[in-house]
Amino acid sequence: MDIKVGIITISDRASQGLYDDLGGPALKKASQDYEWQVVAETLVADEKRDIQRAVLEQIRSGANLVLTTGGTGVALRDVTPEAVREIAVRELPGFGELMRMESLKVTPNAILSRSLAVVVEKGLVICLPGKPSGAVECLGFVLGAIPHCVEVVQEVPTSC
Ligand code: MTE
Repeated sequence: MDIKVGIITISDRASQGLYDDLGGPALKKASQDYEWQVVAETLVADEKRDIQRAVLEQIRSGANLVLTTGGTGVALRDVTPEAVREIAVRELPGFGELMRMESLKVTPNAILSRSLAVVVEKGLVICLPGKPSGAVECLGFVLGAIPHCVEVVQEVPTSC
């Protein structure tokens, strides 16, 4: 089935125009390389309500996969995991486990990321770290599970 991606950059500083959003464009390019259709791009501050609104809006307007970048770390303003868990039907712990396991081979700081994946309504939401290269790397680590997961969440009949 077609993967329709929504991308959300979560960053106080980028949303205030203090620096350019590099994470969103990096995920857009990776998505296009995977031949997914990018249907929405949003930039929000590290605010739970704004994050939740952006995720729900993208899913309700047709995204079956939402990729977020930023806010997964340990800073007090990092609230992405809390925001998505509050609106999730369920969490898929394997995504976070695999992203951290593989990222630890790249940087010891990977232990600081609370990257995760959840199901929100009929969408798969994958929350990636804020560093653009880290976000793209982490997406690559879980890539293999995404098409089947999106089909199951969308209730498309599958062979397994
Ligand atoms: N994972 C990968 N694969 N590559 C990276 O460069 N950076 C780490 C980590 N995960 C990184 C990574 C760093 S430096 C931090 S602080 C955490 O993700 C959390 O990032 P965030 O708060 O910007 O989401």
